[in-house]
Amino acid sequence: MKKVLMVCLGNICRSPLAEGILRSKIDSNNVMIDSAGTAAYHVGNLPDKRSIEVANKYNIDITNQKARKFTIRDFDTFDFIYAMDESNYKNILTLARSKSDREKVKMILNETFPNKNISVPDPYYGGQDGFENVYRMLDEACELIANKFSKIK
Ligand code: 4NP
Repeated sequence: MKKVLMVCLGNICRSPLAEGILRSKIDSNNVMIDSAGTAAYHVGNLPDKRSIEVANKYNIDITNQKARKFTIRDFDTFDFIYAMDESNYKNILTLARSKSDREKVKMILNETFPNKNISVPDPYYGGQDGFENVYRMLDEACELIANKFSKIK
């Protein structure tokens, strides 16, 4: 079974959406998905209301999720660790212990735009339109990730 971890800063806006979207596209018997944040500000909290709302609009329920912090043990558990932005990517790599750990970490939008290292913008201080934009970016990337996994199995 492939194990995928989506990582952002707070684990309340972007990575819960990425988790919910990818979950909606894959067979849960073959892929395990979770999400985490590099910061602990929101540990134990539900996703942000605006993420819940945009997910609902596309018939995805993310209210079963609770924020947690990324830990070094996640390198042992997960095969693919997708960072939402460059800062998350750098913070995760700081904790990596080996080449094998480092190789698991990817910028999620490199699935859509290979090697461009484009970040999913942090929508926290903006309005609902920012969440809609994030949703569309993540939907496209997760579609490609789901296709890849259906080929690997
Ligand atoms: P996320 O968004 O990393 O996509 O969950 C944020 C959530 C909270 C904060 C920043 C970004 N914050 O500063 O509390």
